Amino acid sequence: MHINNLNLSKKILSWYDNNKRRLPWRISKKSKKNQYYRILSEFMLQQTQVKTVIPYFNNFVKKIPNLKALSKSNEKKVLKLWEGLGYYTRAKNLHKTSKILIKKYNGQIPESFVKLKELPGIGDYTANVLLALIYNQPRVALDGNVKRVLFRLFNINTEDAVNLFKTKRNGDLAEALMEFGALICKPQDPKCHECKIKKVCAYYASE
Ligand code: ADE
Repeated sequence: MHINNLNLSKKILSWYDNNKRRLPWRISKKSKKNQYYRILSEFMLQQTQVKTVIPYFNNFVKKIPNLKALSKSNEKKVLKLWEGLGYYTRAKNLHKTSKILIKKYNGQIPESFVKLKELPGIGDYTANVLLALIYNQPRVALDGNVKRVLFRLFNINTEDAVNLFKTKRNGDLAEALMEFGALICKPQDPKCHECKIKKVCAYYASE
């Protein structure tokens, strides 16, 4: 595929820098809270939209502020804080995972895809997104939004998508692609007129 992938990453990242939403889990990567905020938000976002998750996330971290506290909470309390979000297995799995992280990994999220996937509630998508966001690994997390963006741009639908992009900011790129899918390359009525990469887009060319 003959595209200038460095340029493409740059454009998406610069769009992201100027347009990203301020979301409560998007905090400094250096913050002590980063790992906890990321794993909690990604569990909540597995089956729920951003705008629904925000108040639940804020309330959850107010009541249970860190991984250690989560591991020590009883399940009833965790489920109560999840009430209304649905898919309660997520909450049970997150709770189990917090205990394993504290016991086996010294409270740290492992840097290995294989180890992450052994944890309850962590599948390919969540493992990829956590490794990108926390450890800046070059991984594109394929959620519905990102799949649609890639499919429209290049007519592809694969994990190899990561090879199409080149950047040092891998975590930001993973999140930028989600944000781009949510705000510009939307399922209905994509905002092609605002799109900074339409020149290389197969879907735009075909419209
Ligand atoms: N969906 C899943 N993870 C997300 C994130 N970090 N930001 C926006 N949407 C998401």
